[in-house]
Amino acid sequence: MLRLLVTGGMGFIGSNFIRYALRTRSVWTIVNLDKLTYAGNPANLADIQSCDGGGRYRFVLGDIQDSALVTRILDEGIDVVVNFAAESHVDRSIMDPVPFLQTNVLGTQALLDAVRGRSLERFVQVSTDEVYGPAPAEIVFTEETPFRPTNPYAASKAAADLLCFSSHKTYGTPVVIGRPTNNYGPCQYPEKFIPLVITRALENEPIPIYGDGQQIRDWLYVEDNCEALCWLAEAGQPGEVYNIAARTGVPNREVAERILNLVGRPVSLLRSVADRPAHDRRYALDDTKIRVAMGLFPAWTLDRGLEATVQWYVAHPQWWRPIKSGEYRRFYEDWYSQR
Ligand code: NAD
Ligand code: DAU
Repeated sequence: MLRLLVTGGMGFIGSNFIRYALRTRSVWTIVNLDKLTYAGNPANLADIQSCDGGGRYRFVLGDIQDSALVTRILDEGIDVVVNFAAESHVDRSIMDPVPFLQTNVLGTQALLDAVRGRSLERFVQVSTDEVYGPAPAEIVFTEETPFRPTNPYAASKAAADLLCFSSHKTYGTPVVIGRPTNNYGPCQYPEKFIPLVITRALENEPIPIYGDGQQIRDWLYVEDNCEALCWLAEAGQPGEVYNIAARTGVPNREVAERILNLVGRPVSLLRSVADRPAHDRRYALDDTKIRVAMGLFPAWTLDRGLEATVQWYVAHPQWWRPIKSGEYRRFYEDWYSQR
């Protein structure tokens, strides 16, 4: 048996992780602590909620900064913490960095403080390739590459990684850090590029492409990331960092064109808009370390992953249409009216 505390489990990757872990790890139990910000959506785990994961899953509404609450959960018996909870959207961090510092930096420190001195097997920190900053052409970054974050979100995640290292060195906290590239797949909030392109294409709306659209991201299907993070939770070496990648570097415009092709919409929907400030041109990671340690990885090609993702959004308009009103609409108008 392995008892997990998963934070931020109502968000995109966290909810996929919980569903995947309950399916593939029959002896795991999971407590999901989530504050339900705009990005946290109980509908992401409605199927698990209704069957209660066979008694192996429980949701707790709350903030990772609430030390008393976190302590109560830990007191019930937890072997592994997996920290997904974060403000995750780069554009929002450019508009207002403060919530990013609160959750990503102070929230991570609050969790580290809460686990200090406890007999925990692992504290898995879900970091990001953005901590390294942009990779020059032909270069791939290893786990030893120095941090060069360029936007407030990336800086807050780099700060969290440093706090994790310091907790490991100072107090012996069994920290394991995973640094995944850009994820995509079901239940991703439509502020992010791939679901934004899919949902706007489905509604025949213009699709904003920042600058020349030649920026490169390494698109990792969320289920492959979940398998890697499950492996970190059960076998990651405390004190170590693991890059998690797909090696699918493709320019944004090409990704959008592939999606339009799948949805059957014209490329004339793509509109060049003013670039994001400090827009990192390219991300590319060397993930040899985790591939060697885990064996076979990843399982999804970009073509298959995009097809599955498009199919999911086509089949679930009841999931994304309500999101696109209210808070989302206000954010969209604020941000894109400046572009
Ligand atoms: P998301 O924005 O979809 O979800 C974040 C979740 O955290 C939400 O459910 C939200 O309610 C919850 N949350 C926020 N603040 C909280 C707090 N103070 N206390 C408790 N819960 C809180 O994010 P995501 O895209 O699923 O990303 C998850 C993690 O993975 C983040 O740490 C992010 O930095 C990292 N990451 C994401 C990607 C990606 O492509 N999406 C890639 C690499 C790393
Ligand atoms: O690299 C990992 C990171 O990936 C994660 O740590 C972040 O949490 C996650 O949000 C993501 O950051 P990006 O900024 O790379 O993702 P986003 O989906 O916002 O943008 C992907 C690319 O698409 C990026 O080059 C910007 C571009 N883009 C994005 C939007 C929203 C556009 O051209 N137009 C858009 O409207």
